[in-house]
Amino acid sequence: YWSVDKNVDKKESYSQIEQAADLLKRNEVVAFPTETVYGLGGNAKEDAAITKIFAAKGRPSDNPLIIHIAKLEQLDELVENVPTTAQKLMETFWPGPLTVILEKKKGALSEVATAGLSTVGIRMPNHPVALQLIEQSGLPIAAPSANRSGKPSPTKAIHVKEDLDSRIAGIVDGGPTGVGVESTVVDCTGDKVVILRPGGITKEQLESVVGEVKIDQALINKEIKPKSPGMKYTHYAPNAPLFLVEGTKEKIQLLIAEEKQKGHTVGVLTTEENKAFYQADYVYACGQRTDLSTVATDLYDGLRSFDHHQVDIIFGEMFPTEGVGQAIMNRLMKAASHQVIR
Ligand code: TXA
Ligand code: MG
Repeated sequence: YWSVDKNVDKKESYSQIEQAADLLKRNEVVAFPTETVYGLGGNAKEDAAITKIFAAKGRPSDNPLIIHIAKLEQLDELVENVPTTAQKLMETFWPGPLTVILEKKKGALSEVATAGLSTVGIRMPNHPVALQLIEQSGLPIAAPSANRSGKPSPTKAIHVKEDLDSRIAGIVDGGPTGVGVESTVVDCTGDKVVILRPGGITKEQLESVVGEVKIDQALINKEIKPKSPGMKYTHYAPNAPLFLVEGTKEKIQLLIAEEKQKGHTVGVLTTEENKAFYQADYVYACGQRTDLSTVATDLYDGLRSFDHHQVDIIFGEMFPTEGVGQAIMNRLMKAASHQVIR
C-alpha cells in the first residue's frame, strides 16, 4: 500500500510508483487511481497477469478488460486501423474518460484480457499517477474497475481495500478519483459511433466532435442483448434493495413512513438540497442536483455507504438523463435492478 502525492515528480511519489510498476512488470496486479474510478491493473500482454485480475474480482471470463495507455505511440502495436472518427475523439478527449473500441491487432495482447474478441477497448486516463505508473511499467495495462464483481466501482482507496485487500499485490492510493463514474465506452468499428456504456464524456460532447452518435439499444430496452458484454451483469447494488422513486420528496417521505411503520430500517439516497427534509434512519446526500457532475463524484461512495448502515430498504431520487445524468441513471437503474416506483 502506497499513499502517493498527485505531484508525481516528487522524489517520494516517483519511487513509490516505481515499486508498483515493478510489480506490474512481474505480472502481479496492482490497484491505482484514475480520474474516473480506481482500476485493477495488470500486464495486458500476459495471461498470467490477466488471470489474476479475473480471479481477484470474481469476474466472468467473457467480460473483456479495457487496455490503458499513457502515450499515443502505444496505440499502433495494439490496434489494426484507426478510423477518422476515432482519431478525432482521441485527439479531443484523451487523456480522459473515453474508451474507444477498435479492431485488435492479432497477437498483441493476452486473449484472456480481450475475452477472445476481435476488438479491443483502449483508454488513456487523465490522472498523473495512472499515467506515470503506465509509463514506468513500459506496458499496456489492462484494468477493470478495482471492485469485486457486482459491487459499485471504487472511487476511494478504502473501497478497494474493502473489496480486494488480501487478493492483490498492492494499492496505490492517490486520493478520491473525481469524475466518479467510469469512462464512456464507444464502438468506433462501424459507420456510426455507438455508445455502449454512458460515462464521464457525454453524448453531447461526443456529437460536438463527430456529429450524430448512436446509443446501443440495449441501454434503453433491457430485453435486447448489450454489445458490451459487461453491461448485461447486475452491478452496483447495495445489499439492501434499492427502489428509485419518480415524484416529489413528500412522496418519498410517505414511503419511508410506511416502511418504518412495518418496523423496517430505511435509507435514502438524495442530494444536498433535500437532505434535511427526510426523516429516515440513514440519509446519504450525493452532491447537488444543480450540478450533476457532483452527483457522479459521490454516487458510488453513497451506494457503498448503505452497506455500513444496516438498512432494510433504500429509496433513491431520480435524475434527469442529460449530460452526465445519462451515466448516473444507467448506474442507478442497475443498482436498483430496474425497480422504479412511479
Ligand atoms: O473508467 C473506466 O473505464 C474504468 C477505469 C479503471 O479505467 N474501467 C472500467 O473497466 O470501468 P470495467 O472492466 O469495469 O468496464 C469495462 C467495460 C465492460 O462493460 C466491458 O464489457 C466493456 O468495457 N468492454 C471492454 N472491451 C470491450 C470490447 N472489445 N467490446 C465491447 N465492450 C468492451
Ligand atoms: Mg467495472
